[in-house]
Amino acid sequence: MDSSAGPATPAEVDAYLVEKLLAPEPDLDAGRVRAHAAGLPHIEVSEVQGKFLMLLAEIASAKRVLEIGTLGGYSTTWLARGVGSTGHVVTCEFEPLHASIAADNLAAAGVGDRVDIRIGAALDTLDALLAEDGEPFDLVFIDADKENNAHYIQTAISLGRPGTVIVVDNVVREGWVLRTPESTAETDPMLRGVREGLDVLGGNPRLDATAMQTVGVKGWDGFALAVVR
Ligand code: SAH
Ligand code: DHB
Ligand code: MG
Repeated sequence: MDSSAGPATPAEVDAYLVEKLLAPEPDLDAGRVRAHAAGLPHIEVSEVQGKFLMLLAEIASAKRVLEIGTLGGYSTTWLARGVGSTGHVVTCEFEPLHASIAADNLAAAGVGDRVDIRIGAALDTLDALLAEDGEPFDLVFIDADKENNAHYIQTAISLGRPGTVIVVDNVVREGWVLRTPESTAETDPMLRGVREGLDVLGGNPRLDATAMQTVGVKGWDGFALAVVR
């Protein structure tokens, strides 16, 4: 690992941190292999980020978690562990194939019974959840179509309570978040969505937010973190 001269790369350091801090995860590894074999994109959170989400859920004593963007259920599995055996995760996924792989992976990881996968556009699922008027969510992880980040964050306030934790993935995007509107943001709806989400996080008086830039196996990116006041 340290045989070549010079500092290690972020990806090498991620592997080192995984080896030092995380237990072997054969079920999670098999789930990622299954997702990749089915052609799902390799955009799930990294291992250290997944465990970070689990620990956040535990720190928040979260029993009800809402996730927007399931993919193959990798982050979902970590969040499901974080809520414990009496907790519950609702996860929103647009693509039926992704939802089906995720269902297999969650079952194989032993957490299928505590996760409810809602198939469809998250905008519709969130409307349905508002109409259901259930118990508030304790933690919301937003990681889907960035175009709707602002809407997702606003709805997370309505579906939460004072103290609810909101985490938003991919708010840095290798620095693209800071591109001027003239060159990129006006023509890139995904990038504009990330920026509009940050506008809500910083501008809504019900939220108190920060963000941490991250570097690792997924490159340079960042998580935003907010608490509902
Ligand atoms: N959270 C996952 C990664 C999610 S990738 C993990 O870290 O393991 C983003 C997912 O959001 C994809 O599966 C994509 O199909 C889904 N998605 C995109 N637009 C969506 C929408 N409008 N509603 C629900 N899901 C959507
Ligand atoms: C990418 C990464 C993500 O975490 C995501 O949610 C969407 C896209 C990417 O690297 O392209
Ligand atoms: Mg993401």
